[in-house]
Amino acid sequence: MASTTPNIIIAIDGYSSSGKSTMARALAKSIGYRYIDSGAMYRAVTLYAMRHGMISDSGVVDIDKLVSALPDIEIDFAVGHEGQHTLLNGEDVEKQIRQMDVSSNVSPVAAIPQVRRALVAIQQALGKDKRIVMDGRDIGTVVFPDAELKIFVDAPARTRAERRYNELLQKGEPVSFEEVLDNVVSRDHIDETRKESPLRRADDAIALDNSDMSLQQQNDWLLSRFNEVVSTI
Ligand code: DC
Repeated sequence: MASTTPNIIIAIDGYSSSGKSTMARALAKSIGYRYIDSGAMYRAVTLYAMRHGMISDSGVVDIDKLVSALPDIEIDFAVGHEGQHTLLNGEDVEKQIRQMDVSSNVSPVAAIPQVRRALVAIQQALGKDKRIVMDGRDIGTVVFPDAELKIFVDAPARTRAERRYNELLQKGEPVSFEEVLDNVVSRDHIDETRKESPLRRADDAIALDNSDMSLQQQNDWLLSRFNEVVSTI
């Protein structure tokens, strides 16, 4: 199937913990495309900043220091057993970037224009040959405004926080539901109100509220949208 599928770009944007990565990953696997989680890149830059003392305990980012360090930050992806692994200067940081401390610090880092510019350039290079499914916040609006298929995923904050809380519990992370809900709500706010590329649905994106969908239903829904688009090419 992979070799005969037309080459397109699929942009999946949406709120944090909306399940967009899960559906993006599943689609990429079933159609033989590359999957890129752009949020992992913002998380990796945040981890770098935390490790180098560029974020204070109260969450204030030393923007000048981080911007001058950008040329020293190399982000790459490797394919592991359970999918994509994010590499920060060659080190596999997939596990670390998913922890709560990174989640708590990532939104202010992702609001820095120079960080966005650097990561958008990498994302656009990854998509130059198409055959890619990328998820994030600005993929359909900024990174690939001409993507052939754009989806915008949403669900109420409480539903998304419940999903995230269950994921973290399964991984053995000691967090409270309130902490996770606060994090989801505050990330929504920062992502939606930042000056540079705020989170918003592209005019030509298909909106999906997946609150009442099973994983299978949302994967089937997305595959149908993909088949509709490629049938017109
Ligand atoms: O999808 P995620 O929760 O892993 O994303 C982490 C953070 O990065 C989130 O607060 C928003 C930001 N982000 C962004 O600004 N632009 C993207 N394309 C992807 C993520």
